[in-house]
Amino acid sequence: MIEVSNLTKTYGKKRGIDRLSFTIGDGEIVGFLGPNGAGKSTTMNIISGYLSASSGAARIGGIDILEDPVAAKRQIGYLPEQPPLYLDMTVAEYLDFIFDLKVPAGELKRSAHIEEICELVGLKEHYTRVIRNLSKGYKQRVGLAQALIGNPEVLILDEPTVGLDPKQIIEIRNVIKGLGKNRTIILSTHILQEVSAICERVLVINNGQIVADDKPENLSSMITGDRKLTVRVAGPRDSVRKILRSIEGVRFADVTVQAEKGSYDFLVEARPNVDIRKPMFAALAKAGYPILQLKSMDLSLEDIFLKLVEEKKKQRDPHNKAPKKVPGEVALNVSGGEESAQEAYASPEPPEQSEEEAVSPAAEGKEEEI
Ligand SMILES: Nc1ncnc2c1ncn2[C@@H]1O[C@H](COP(=O)(O)OP(=O)(O)OP(=O)(O)O)[C@@H](O)[C@H]1O
Ligand SMILES: [Mg+2]
Repeated sequence: MIEVSNLTKTYGKKRGIDRLSFTIGDGEIVGFLGPNGAGKSTTMNIISGYLSASSGAARIGGIDILEDPVAAKRQIGYLPEQPPLYLDMTVAEYLDFIFDLKVPAGELKRSAHIEEICELVGLKEHYTRVIRNLSKGYKQRVGLAQALIGNPEVLILDEPTVGLDPKQIIEIRNVIKGLGKNRTIILSTHILQEVSAICERVLVINNGQIVADDKPENLSSMITGDRKLTVRVAGPRDSVRKILRSIEGVRFADVTVQAEKGSYDFLVEARPNVDIRKPMFAALAKAGYPILQLKSMDLSLEDIFLKLVEEKKKQRDPHNKAPKKVPGEVALNVSGGEESAQEAYASPEPPEQSEEEAVSPAAEGKEEEI
């Protein structure tokens, strides 16, 4: 069990995390989801005893990490953001060394334990290799292996799949899921699908504060609630737009770019909880305008943060309505870091535009990472 209460970390004048409180029960797999700079690593470093908090407390299995760090750390396996590897050692030498550090004499059978872990994380064939020469994904596996040595009850994994290729990502996600059957796991990520794939619960963190604590499927319903599509249609621009706008359930439809000769990309937004794909197909087919491409534009992580932050503000002050977005407005930068330049709009009838004009940057670069 992990109990975090009022945890705050200040770096100079800046707050890395701000009065965080949450509890993770035995056997839970919890995803810590947040953009760059949200405070994920800071929280994990404090929980695992790498960093001290400015105020507040973290307890592992009832033991305060600052009061009795040795006993608390004995229960933890930690994969930090940058795995602490000795690059000149072979995998075998390194895991041996970690075993000596973490496992009290006589508690576990060394070779059987290390072999079991290497099998689990897919390192068997690389056992005798020098760590420096391993690819990034395999170095990440060595990091995961060191976290597992000693069979800790609590695993803290900071972006465990970063740097892995898609096949490895699926493998490692499955390994983590398997580990979660009899362990408490907290893992951080900024990839939404990662929490949906692995976790039963998700804590969304932004600007050092928890903005949501929910099941991933509830977050997913939030994502699909506002369905946006881009559709490429071969046909005259104005006629196609007219047809799209006449479909029941369509809240917004307009051309974004001329895609190929004689075809255009349209951004189409449905009303909440309406699936417009079938009626759209039927209407365009009836008019003889073929669909060349159809893409779902799920809300990006930034959009979800924006929604969550706005909802939180509304809960605090129900009379103060969230500001209405207008065409061309740049979305609020919730990450506190890099700019989030996604266009938002509210008008169901945007002004007419000439063929050459490319309309909406909202149509670009909004698909989620996988
Ligand atoms: N040693 C430090 N000195 C000063 N500021 C720091 C330090 N470590 C973290 N911060 C700041 O604290 C905030 C939280 O950082 P943290 O590394 O915890 O974020 P994160 O959620 O892990 O981000 P990322 O997804 O990029 O890993 C950031 O604004 C960061 O700049
Ligand atoms: Mg981090």
